Amino acid sequence: MKIGSLLISLLPLSLGSPVFSLPFGEVPFGSELRVLQLSADEFVTVPETEKLFLRRRGTNFFDITSHSGQIAGGKLKDEIPVPDYLYPTELNEIETVSKVNKMINTNSMQANLAEITSFYTRYYKSQSGFEASEWVSSKIIESTEKLPKEIVSVKHFDHKEWAQYSIIVQIKGYENPDNVVVIGSHLDSINLLLPSILPAPGADDNGSGTTTNLEALRLIVEHILSSGKTFRNTVEFHFYSAEEGGLLGSQDVYGEYRAQNKSVMAMLQQDMTGYVRDPSNEHIGVVTDYTTPALTSFMKLAIDNYLDIPYVETTCGYACSDHGSALKNGYPASFVIESDFKKTSKFIHSTLDTMDRLSLSHMAEHVKLVIGTVFELGNWPYFTKI
Ligand code: BES
Ligand code: ZN
Repeated sequence: MKIGSLLISLLPLSLGSPVFSLPFGEVPFGSELRVLQLSADEFVTVPETEKLFLRRRGTNFFDITSHSGQIAGGKLKDEIPVPDYLYPTELNEIETVSKVNKMINTNSMQANLAEITSFYTRYYKSQSGFEASEWVSSKIIESTEKLPKEIVSVKHFDHKEWAQYSIIVQIKGYENPDNVVVIGSHLDSINLLLPSILPAPGADDNGSGTTTNLEALRLIVEHILSSGKTFRNTVEFHFYSAEEGGLLGSQDVYGEYRAQNKSVMAMLQQDMTGYVRDPSNEHIGVVTDYTTPALTSFMKLAIDNYLDIPYVETTCGYACSDHGSALKNGYPASFVIESDFKKTSKFIHSTLDTMDRLSLSHMAEHVKLVIGTVFELGNWPYFTKI
């Protein structure tokens, strides 16, 4: 679809708010205009307020305003290709993973989820959204402080346009430190009705993924302390800011990784891990669109062996969560959600996204997958390009 006709088609649906078209890259300083990418080859330039209307209608996008160097002459520069890496087709860490998975503590997860949902909102532009990043950071520091500084680092990744920061926890690999395995989740929330005014507890989206990854990180650190062993490859946990603004935080992070020529060999996103529509058919959703097939096959293997519930394949669409930012920058990425997309929580992005609707034991299944992935891929010695 041509950009102009897309703009016109958006007009009547946007409740009268104006839509402007500008040549790409020419976003005037101080204006509220944003450049959005709606698919591989569709772009619009809209006022900030229009983003909300689009989201309420279910249109997903990357907000690429700060990354619009990616477009030239109205077309995306060549997409960065994702290399093919070899992933395990059989598991090598069954004993250790089974042992660590037995240590998952749903009481500690419940306490974390209660705290993270107690912020009025974690909207990335709000003061409480900033305080939420401070809280996540303090929890991470608490669980990693016993590890030597040569092994673990916790960095705040600041963003230019808003105060809530992303957090990068790095556990340095002892053999191939340049090979990085990333576990991701976004820490912000949003109330799509009035983001700056109404509460957004964001229990499922994405207090659940944040809690999942905090628990996995806590147990991994405990294991390193008791065994004295880290991983062959570098393992990172990322807690992204501003996913709900159009994958803003994760695009900054992966844009920077790309600029620094970093090698991310695998990324697993945890976003919405707690809602079970039908407990008699509890399962996990493996996302097969806009993800890397070989890595997704590994995730299925890990689910079959490390989890107590089965998976179903599902789709989530373009620009669905932060794994999209990894993929866009040429890094293999995977996404596993709480269930078949059709059966995910309908309460997200509202005041109703509260923790009483979630299952801690379901979230524990996601923790098992994260731990399985960290041990298997963290120790995988064959990350050569095929
Ligand atoms: N957690 C959602 C994505 C999601 C929704 C996964 C429903 C599974 C089921 C994520 O936080 C989100 O809201 N994404 C936006 C797009 C984003 C780029 C603004 C969405 O799906 O509307
Ligand atoms: Zn969301």
